Amino acid sequence: MSQATCCKGSAHGTALDEAKLAALDAVIAKYRGSPGALISALHEAQEVVGYLPQEVQVRVAEGLGVPLSEVYGVVSFYALFSMKPKGRFKISLCKGTACYVRGAPHVLERLEKELGITAGDTTDDGMFSLDVVRCLGACGLGPVITINEDVHARLKPDRVPGVLEAYRRADRG
Ligand code: FES
Repeated sequence: MSQATCCKGSAHGTALDEAKLAALDAVIAKYRGSPGALISALHEAQEVVGYLPQEVQVRVAEGLGVPLSEVYGVVSFYALFSMKPKGRFKISLCKGTACYVRGAPHVLERLEKELGITAGDTTDDGMFSLDVVRCLGACGLGPVITINEDVHARLKPDRVPGVLEAYRRADRG
């Protein structure tokens, strides 16, 4: 039996409040004894916490009885896992077939260049995160990105800086 609770009410910086901690422990309990289900457990842990910082990786590793190095290896290998919280503006770029043939890779390239991050990452100031997704359901309008709830259709690489600047301005108020 592992020590299920420690550091309750800790004043240290943590991604885990008590509700998230309880939900995370429920996920771990569900997969305990099934070390082959590590990816599923991490996926659910990320849904609970929003991302997978080291403290979550440690808790999952200890809870499932797998080496931390294995957990870290999985988290860093798969693009769907993130070790950083998502940005205040969450960018999703569609790389479905229709968007792809209309130039989504060039839009992605420009986004990565302007933001200084690659897909799956978050800018250091926490403003933008960038993810690649499959089909946003607006195939006739490709290439399409969404930023939070906003849809930006028929996006050309040259328009990317202006679009990002509008969100930076909005963030400054
Ligand atoms: S393929 Fe991009 S919205 Fe469907």
